[in-house]
Amino acid sequence: MRILIIHGPNLNQLGQRDTEFYGTKTLEEIDALLGDEAMALGIDIDTFQSNGEGELINLIQKEAPEAHGIIVNPGALTHYGLSLRDALADIGIPVIEVHLSNIYAREDFRRNSVIAPVAKGQISGLGWRSYVIALRAMADELREQS
Ligand code: DQA
Repeated sequence: MRILIIHGPNLNQLGQRDTEFYGTKTLEEIDALLGDEAMALGIDIDTFQSNGEGELINLIQKEAPEAHGIIVNPGALTHYGLSLRDALADIGIPVIEVHLSNIYAREDFRRNSVIAPVAKGQISGLGWRSYVIALRAMADELREQS
């Protein structure tokens, strides 16, 4: 089982970016925690980050045909990234949307996700644990289906 972990714009700055909302762990540290969790779950993950919507779409089109699920933190593209949404919908494998911060407890514009309608579910507000919980849920769900 192979799951793609996709981080969107500005998430490469984690650790120094708005730590009150996003915590102090760097992206590398989060990816390492996900690597440990994947090993414990007996699954493969590949992690990616890009600041560009087009690059994320190219990545999804290239990698998703060889994957079983996607965990994505779309960053601010959550709120307006319609091309990203279409790419995720078109690829036809389950998607879980994650957010470090609680997007419903912040500015109004963050409350709307254009990704959520094409995702299986969303985990928001649990810091780096949002990703770990999403990975567990995805592995569980895919195992149940197979
Ligand atoms: C975020 C929330 C978004 O609103 C924001 O633009 C981000 C990070 C989160 O993980 O909480 O870049 O996706």
